[in-house]
Amino acid sequence: MPQSSQVGLTIRQKEPTNLEAAVDQINTFLTPAELFYIRNHFAAPDLKIAEYALRVGGAVRQPLALSYRSLREMPSKTVVAALECAGNSRVFLVPSVPGAQWELGAVGNAEWTGVPLAALLERAGIAADVCEIVLEGADRGIPAEPPLPPGAISYARSLPLNKAQQEEVLIAYQMNGRELRRDHGYPVRAIVPGHFGMASVKWLTRIEAVREPFQGYWQTSDYGYWDRVEGMPVRRPLAEMPIKSEIFRPRVYETVPTNQVYEVFGAAWTGESEVTEVALSTDDGRTWVEAKFLDPAQRYAWRRWTYEWLTPQQPGKYTLLARAKDACGRVQPDHHDPNLGSYVINHALPIEVFVRD
Ligand code: MTE
Repeated sequence: MPQSSQVGLTIRQKEPTNLEAAVDQINTFLTPAELFYIRNHFAAPDLKIAEYALRVGGAVRQPLALSYRSLREMPSKTVVAALECAGNSRVFLVPSVPGAQWELGAVGNAEWTGVPLAALLERAGIAADVCEIVLEGADRGIPAEPPLPPGAISYARSLPLNKAQQEEVLIAYQMNGRELRRDHGYPVRAIVPGHFGMASVKWLTRIEAVREPFQGYWQTSDYGYWDRVEGMPVRRPLAEMPIKSEIFRPRVYETVPTNQVYEVFGAAWTGESEVTEVALSTDDGRTWVEAKFLDPAQRYAWRRWTYEWLTPQQPGKYTLLARAKDACGRVQPDHHDPNLGSYVINHALPIEVFVRD
C-alpha cells in the first residue's frame, strides 16, 4: 500500500468541490481525513473560530448562542461512524442518471468527536410539541437540480426528534482526533451516524426546533424519494442507510493471474444495526462463499472484510459480487429500486475482472 499522502482523491466536480476517495488504496479501519471523500453543494465557507457562534432556537424555552470555546468546554463524546453519500455508486445505474457520477468512493469511516446534540437540546429546553430539529449550515447558493427554489438558499436538513435526541448524534469538531478540515465542515458539523451523509450538515451555525415537518429543498426536491401510503405516492426525505457492501479490490477491469490466491477486499456498513455477514460470489451470483471480517461488529462503523480467492485456471472475464446482511435481517437487493431515483444504490454491484495466464 502506498503512503496515504501519495494516494489523493478523484475529481467528480471541480466547483463546488466534489472529490471521490480511492477506496482500493486505503486499507485502514479509519479513513484518513485527507483521503475522505468531499461532497459540497456550494463553495466551502471560510468560518473563523473567533467569530463562530452556534445558535439554538425555534420552539425552545431558552435560545442559545454558543461560541466555539463554550462548545469545547462541554462534555464530549467520540463515535466511529461511516458516512456514505446517498448518491454513491450512481455510475453503476443502467440506464445512467444525472448527478455526480460517483463510483465506489463516496464513502469513508472516521472517528468523530463533539457534543451530543441531545445535550444542547436539553440545555435549550425544547417545547413539548416539537417534531423535528433543523440543522443549517453557513454555505449558501443556488442549487443545481430543478425544481429550483427562488434565489439562494443555505444547506439545511431536519432530523426527526427521536433521532436528534440519540446520544450518538454529535455536534462534532474533530475528525480522527484532529480539528475538522475546511472541506469537512470546519469548525463544527453535525454527525448523524446511521444516516446517509447528507444528514451530517457541515459548517453548522443554526439549530432550530420546529413544530411542523420541515419541507426544505434538501429533503424534498433533492435527497427525497417516492414512498407509498395506501397506494398513493408520497415524497419522503432520505434518512437511514440500508445494508451495503462494496468490493474495493479488485477494481473494475483489473487483470488477475490464473490459479493464484488473490485477496479480495472490501467493507460493509448499515444504518441502525450491525453487519453480520458478507457473502462473495466470483461467478456472477451462481455460487457464494462467506468472507472473513477484519473488524468486529460495531454499530455505525463499517466492517472491513476479505476473501482469499483462488483464481480460476480458465482465463476469461469473471464477475464478482458481494452481498451483506445485518442483524435486523436486511440483505442487499439484487437490483436498484427505481422509486429511489438516483439515490440509495445498495444492490450487489458487479465488479468485472479479467483472469489471464
Ligand atoms: N453540509 C453542508 N453545509 N453543505 C453540503 O453541501 N453536503 C452533505 C453533507 N453535509 C453538505 C453538507 C452531503 S450530501 C454529504 S454526503 C456529506 O456532507 C459529505 O461529508 P464530507 O464532505 O465531509 O465527506
